[in-house]
Amino acid sequence: MALWGGRFASGPDESVLKLSRSVDFDWRLAPYDVRVNLAHVAGLQRAGIIDGKDGALISSALIELAHEIATGAFTFNESDEDVHSAVERGLVTKIGELGGAFRAGRSRNDLVVTDFKLYLIDHLLEVADETVLLAQTIDTVATKLIGQVAPGFTHLQHAQPILFSHELAKHSHALLRDVDRMKDWLTRNSVSPLGSGALAGSPLVPNPEIIAAELSFQGVTRNSIDAVSDRDFVAEILFAFAMLGVHLSRIGEEFTIWNTQEFGWVTLDDGFSTGSSIMPQKKNPDIAELARGKSGRFIGNLTGLLATLKGLPFAYNRDLQEDKEPVFDSVEQLLVLLPALRGMIETATFNGEKISADVLGGHALATEIADFLVLAQVPFAKAHEISGKAVALAQSKGIEVHELNDTDLSGVDPRLTPDLRKSLTAESAIASRVSINGTSTKSVVAQLGQLEVKIKSYSGWIASERKRFSGMMGI
Ligand code: ARG
Repeated sequence: MALWGGRFASGPDESVLKLSRSVDFDWRLAPYDVRVNLAHVAGLQRAGIIDGKDGALISSALIELAHEIATGAFTFNESDEDVHSAVERGLVTKIGELGGAFRAGRSRNDLVVTDFKLYLIDHLLEVADETVLLAQTIDTVATKLIGQVAPGFTHLQHAQPILFSHELAKHSHALLRDVDRMKDWLTRNSVSPLGSGALAGSPLVPNPEIIAAELSFQGVTRNSIDAVSDRDFVAEILFAFAMLGVHLSRIGEEFTIWNTQEFGWVTLDDGFSTGSSIMPQKKNPDIAELARGKSGRFIGNLTGLLATLKGLPFAYNRDLQEDKEPVFDSVEQLLVLLPALRGMIETATFNGEKISADVLGGHALATEIADFLVLAQVPFAKAHEISGKAVALAQSKGIEVHELNDTDLSGVDPRLTPDLRKSLTAESAIASRVSINGTSTKSVVAQLGQLEVKIKSYSGWIASERKRFSGMMGI
């Protein structure tokens, strides 16, 4: 159904209809559109624009429509330009001309932003929930594997020994930052643009604050031109999703490497692996690879939107219709990816022997030698040089630095006394790193406990926000 046409001699050309039509994707906004319209009708009633009898008729028709949309009994058709026209058609079908009364005092320009914000609130809570569940799974696996030592890498080269739980838990920290960004998004963007009208505000609805509160927003935007132009909230959430996607891609990359024949650190469950159509022996880590691959899409969705926004004149321009598909895509792909990745990690077997097999390879205890000298009052630069010489000697002998005997060590520098020996194990290197962020067992156990507390608090936040937004306008 068209929402305009009075001043046109002819209807739009077929090609224009195709170009301008957004209902195929923005139909996802339908449940929110109905709620916003319900709140708006109540506002029109309070302002005396619609009388009580008509208001009740329109409202009950809207509620009926909401249920039909939820069950699929009502949906868009060929004649609808966008979700707003489809909803109005639904209403007109039910109550005739009166169905067109509810759009007084609001424009699709303020309506679409309000609908979109409500969609995002609902869906960012779903994404946040799945992200918290993944962080929780990683935390649980890390807790189970406490005590497992592993080589820690920098530049993908052996660096220093670490606890494998420390390696795993880093991902939960990153994921919880993503959740925090979503939480922060909600605090900043929970303001209703309704009442901004086309661009100048509305003479018919004097109290947008009441409507905003009915829709569970925490306030109202304060400049009507900004409110209909602003898509910062879209770019912000696409950044949060892209950053989350980057974190998932790094998890994917790590599991792909750990799953190689050469590493053999992890065995993926059959249910979370895929095969090859030609090589019968193959069992591939496709979930991890898709986690890596989809990040490109999430980043593209963000950069595409930023390019659309750059240099746009203020107030509404039709370019802004391009804001929705990237969001729907990121949301929907994340909601497919997150549970699969969680299942993959939950069911994976970690092969402890392989993980610790070469923990001291690559002269991984060289820093311990330097630190030992520092504790004996040798300036670090000198200590670094002496330890480097020990590494060179070990290398010339074809052994690891911790395998040098006492004579070799004292030959490099007399301050490398046999006392050093007790620092030259993976366990002591790990146990010595007792700082709040370090890899000692004591520190890691405390960190995992703190993660647990954070996870609980984010789950609590998600539950309370869901409660606040559910049942909005009684539907
Ligand atoms: N489908 C449009 C969008 O998503 C709705 C707003 C249309 N407003 C207009 N003035 N043509 O942006």
